[in-house]
Amino acid sequence: METFESLVRAEFAPKNVYLNTASNGLLPARTVTALHRAVRMRAEGTPLGPLYEDVEVVRASFARLAGVPVERVATGASVAEYGGLIAASLPAGAEVLTAEGDFASLVNPFHVRGDLKVRSVPLERLAESVRPDTALVAVSAAQSADGRVADLAAVREAARTHGARTYVDASQSAGWLPLEADAYDFVAAVGFKWLLGPHGAVFCVVPQDLGGLTPLLAGWVAGEIPWDSCYGPVEDLARSARRFDISPSLFTYAGLRTSLELIEELGVAAIQAHDLALADRFRTGLAALGHEPVPSPGSAIVSVPGLGDRQPELSRGHRGLQPRGQPARGLPPLQHPRGRRPVARHPVRLNHATRRRGRRTERTERAASPSWS
Ligand SMILES: Cc1ncc(COP(=O)(O)O)c(C=O)c1O
Repeated sequence: METFESLVRAEFAPKNVYLNTASNGLLPARTVTALHRAVRMRAEGTPLGPLYEDVEVVRASFARLAGVPVERVATGASVAEYGGLIAASLPAGAEVLTAEGDFASLVNPFHVRGDLKVRSVPLERLAESVRPDTALVAVSAAQSADGRVADLAAVREAARTHGARTYVDASQSAGWLPLEADAYDFVAAVGFKWLLGPHGAVFCVVPQDLGGLTPLLAGWVAGEIPWDSCYGPVEDLARSARRFDISPSLFTYAGLRTSLELIEELGVAAIQAHDLALADRFRTGLAALGHEPVPSPGSAIVSVPGLGDRQPELSRGHRGLQPRGQPARGLPPLQHPRGRRPVARHPVRLNHATRRRGRRTERTERAASPSWS
């Protein structure tokens, strides 16, 4: 019988310990195979029907992970695209409440509209900051910059009390943190991080009544019957969230199909337990080396201010990331419990991809927690 461990061992073969799922997840072996198959179909001129079917299989799989009917799931290419649709649906002057330092693709669409009032508060004060004139609260379930997990239950309750809508970005949580999309008005998530897919797909869960969004980006795929909607205006838009689809990157969905299949096989609860244990182990190792990560209790993401500048060095040499070596360059060894092979799905982020982001994190963190200096 396949166990969590045997499945993980069979599917992942990173060349060193991998710390960067918060940027890009590792592709499972079955996904690499699926991608090769899809590419071959294009090269050989095979009809692409199966690739279009993959889109619907992926939509259904994400709907199960999100706990909503498939009719509520739209598929697109960018979180910002869905933020744009939500922003466009708000009346001029509406207040949007966001967390300071949240990911740009989540918050920026509300800023560029130009006539909305965007108010940003520290993540920890989000729920208490909802007011009667707040139209929408937009927040990431887990912060991209430092992994802090939002108190979504409190946000939801405050929003309900004041009649505000909620928009949750689950890009940094879907796959390792159970997702109850039904509890929010809108939920968006990218497919290439914790959902282990190729780049190019984003999911958006909308309310059953479609949430008053205008399908501003609707092309032929948004038709109730896409292949009958190829010419002229789309007369019959999909009655479901599919009206908010954009044309699918077919290779991406061929890969996501098997990635989501694997996540369903492993189970999000088991992945969560696995990832949190690894994250805690990493925190312990950091503490032993005198590094203080950003506090992110209950998060699979560990951010370590001050080490971002060393990422190129660590990526080049691999030595600091070797599973069985001694801690080097400020990193503890991260290895499979049996110590034979690096853990494949890794929950931690070694601070950030660039120096600029690293600096910003430290600034944000100082604002949120005065004891950090
Ligand atoms: C919280 C969060 N939202 C969204 C994205 C991606 O946004 P987009 O799909 O607009 O590139 C990321 C990371 O890339 C992220 O960490």
